[in-house]
Amino acid sequence: MQLKGIYQLIKKELIFAEEILEKSLKGATNKSILEISDYLLEAKGKRLRPALVIFSAKASQQSSPLNERSMISVACAMELIHTASLIHDDVIDHASLRHNKPTINSKYGQDVSIAVGDYLYSIGFELISSCRNTDILSCVSQATKAMCEGELIQVCERDNLDLLKKRYIIIAKKKTASLFVASCQAGAMLSNSKVYIQHALKGYGLNFGIAFQIIDDYLDLTGKTEDLGKSPGADFKMGELTLPILNLLTQTKDRNRLMSLIKQQDSPEAFRELKQRFINSRALLKTKEDVCFYAQEAKKELNRLKDSCFKQSLFNLADYLVNKMTI
Ligand code: IPE
Ligand code: IPE
Ligand code: MG
Ligand code: MG
Repeated sequence: MQLKGIYQLIKKELIFAEEILEKSLKGATNKSILEISDYLLEAKGKRLRPALVIFSAKASQQSSPLNERSMISVACAMELIHTASLIHDDVIDHASLRHNKPTINSKYGQDVSIAVGDYLYSIGFELISSCRNTDILSCVSQATKAMCEGELIQVCERDNLDLLKKRYIIIAKKKTASLFVASCQAGAMLSNSKVYIQHALKGYGLNFGIAFQIIDDYLDLTGKTEDLGKSPGADFKMGELTLPILNLLTQTKDRNRLMSLIKQQDSPEAFRELKQRFINSRALLKTKEDVCFYAQEAKKELNRLKDSCFKQSLFNLADYLVNKMTI
């Protein structure tokens, strides 16, 4: 199922979220901020985190009505924090393309990117504060801290050819899954659901987030620019040892050749050979199995929720992830 089909059920809420996002971004009086805001709104992402806030709130809803305004504010805040993290990440990764357009750093420079990222974090937290819910504030703050920590650890682990799979998963949990966890948990908090429901949705977000990062890394190795909207091979260039590569290192009979390729970070030929070796090896299947494992774990967490079309949408989102691996 395509994302558009899965989102159909919350179309109205996502339109509302888009309006609030636009209002938050265009609340600035400064001309430069307004220009960049327009640029960001034109180059939209998948809006996965807002969708997870809304689906989680609705899937855990009991008899009392949801505070729609708070739900949309949290959904938008998660997207703003995510967007801020991507703008900073593109500086860190020296990336030049995102959402099929030049990144903020390549269009406006690093100084502007850092300042704009900071600005987006601040309006994200302003929106969270407007909900006057300290549990949600604390949940989102902790997740943002973990995300920043994850990015930092990853940078420090670059070029570490002895990186262990366990360490990779820790990084993925922190830098990527934490915002998915917070989106799902905050959704469950918005519906005042019981603690065990909040735990189940947190577990869903965690496993979904790990699967998501593995797929992102798989696509960085195997995908095409036109499908990704960003340039593949970014992890290779930055010396990041992602799970597909770690799996390849485990499976290979020619570890020396792989090591030599990994070290040639500026060579497109070395990247092509590495990609080909991955596609022709058992590491491809192993990586798919890893993704399926986490997607399955995410789905298992949903067993504790009552059946609903929203719970089904969370199932469908996990399947959507798995289906992104087409090679
Ligand atoms: C990209 O996230 C960054 C990672 C965590 C790998 P998304 O794929 O969700 O970003 P959008 O859809 O472009 O916003
Ligand atoms: C970034 O991971 C995750 C963040 C916390 C922003 P990646 O570096 O793999 O994300 P992309 O591939 O640039 O989107
Ligand atoms: Mg990146
Ligand atoms: Mg990536």
